[in-house]
Amino acid sequence: MSLPGTLGIDFGTSNSAMAWAAPGGTARLIALEGEATAMPTAVFYNSEDLSAHFGRDAVALYLEGTEGRLMRSLKSLLGSPLLLETTVVNNKQVSFQDIIATFLVTLRERATQALGAAPTRVVLGRPVHFVDDDPTRDAQAQASLLQAAHSVGFEQVSFQLEPIAAALDYERRLSQESTVLVADIGGGTSDFTVVRLGPQRMGKTERAEDVLATTGVHIGGTDFDHKLSLERVMPLLGYRHLGPDGREVPSRVFFDLATWHLIHRLSTQKALAEAQALWTNYSDVSLHRRLMRVLTERHGHHIAHAVEQAKIRCSQFDRDTVVDLTFVEAALAAPMSTAALREQLDELLQRTVACARECVRQAGVADGQLAAVYLTGGSSALRPFQRALQAAFAGVPLVEGDLFGGVASGLAYCG
Ligand SMILES: Nc1ncnc2c1ncn2[C@@H]1O[C@H](COP(=O)(O)OP(=O)(O)OP(=O)(O)O)[C@@H](O)[C@H]1O
Ligand SMILES: [Mg+2]
Repeated sequence: MSLPGTLGIDFGTSNSAMAWAAPGGTARLIALEGEATAMPTAVFYNSEDLSAHFGRDAVALYLEGTEGRLMRSLKSLLGSPLLLETTVVNNKQVSFQDIIATFLVTLRERATQALGAAPTRVVLGRPVHFVDDDPTRDAQAQASLLQAAHSVGFEQVSFQLEPIAAALDYERRLSQESTVLVADIGGGTSDFTVVRLGPQRMGKTERAEDVLATTGVHIGGTDFDHKLSLERVMPLLGYRHLGPDGREVPSRVFFDLATWHLIHRLSTQKALAEAQALWTNYSDVSLHRRLMRVLTERHGHHIAHAVEQAKIRCSQFDRDTVVDLTFVEAALAAPMSTAALREQLDELLQRTVACARECVRQAGVADGQLAAVYLTGGSSALRPFQRALQAAFAGVPLVEGDLFGGVASGLAYCG
């Protein structure tokens, strides 16, 4: 028997969430891990017992030091040639596309368990651009996600832009008609839409004319982590370190280590051999020894996680903090100050804010006509981002929404 209603799936770069809405009903978020309605988009292949783990469970096993492979930021691979590359996990050769499907299987199972029957009608979220400035690769990204969804048994699958979904969720809370700028700042992308929202408009099936503009840019929290890791942590492993010939150590290994979706590349024998050969480029070989320890002991994701946690702490408490690296070496830490957070993210934040400004320009509305800037997505909480956005939209109130569930709820309303 098919279940009447729509399952909204927010397959996020960092976190995924799902919501269910019966026809004409209110969307409710589905509990995915215990009470939690959002789970990290993470898969861990345990090589000790050949099991696969997802979400918080996956991250925890990796951080505990269980032997195996962690996969994160899988969405960042959509639209990239890396998606079809294969890798060996638990003695099997699989592509990253297969790993995405494995994650979707888990989402489907958990939805089925919560709803008592398998959902058939699904609305998947998508960023405004999976890939910036390349419509062909962008279309490929959506096609790959669609293929993965079909392959795990979802029958009727449609797509909706993530910022529009976020707006539809926000609309439920409005008592009067208003024009708002919705900002969805996630792990991989920042998406904006200017929409007309209001209780009278909610029931309409055709909403295209209420969407005045959408823009998006491929910048999100994982890019902030990348930049902060390069600036604060990678120098401790030899990034920008000068060798005996006065030249910098080749930087590729540091770029991969600082990039959530590329860390896995460093686990191959070939990558280790290449890194080992870098020792001649170091004047201080203790830095090279440290790099090799990070690679052989597979601390890459742990470092990315530590940088992310420091970023969040620094932003949340508006206080200087440190990236704790004692799992690499006793007493090793990298300072992260509020000034560093602001300065090192400035260029990325300016580009993100410019994308928001462009959205309002395309919509053809004056700032004075905007009732609010509605913030959703985990990275919208980043203090330097909010400051930059407020400076660009002086006088327009910033409204903080549901950081991790709004898109999924809005998608469920798109059925
Ligand atoms: N309090 C916070 N301050 C700053 N950043 C935060 C905070 N909490 C979470 N983040 C960041 O938010 C990001 C995840 O947000 P979210 O779950 O909305 O993204 P996503 O939906 O997975 O990604 P996308 O929508 O781009 O595919 C991570 O990069 C995380 O570091
Ligand atoms: Mg998101």
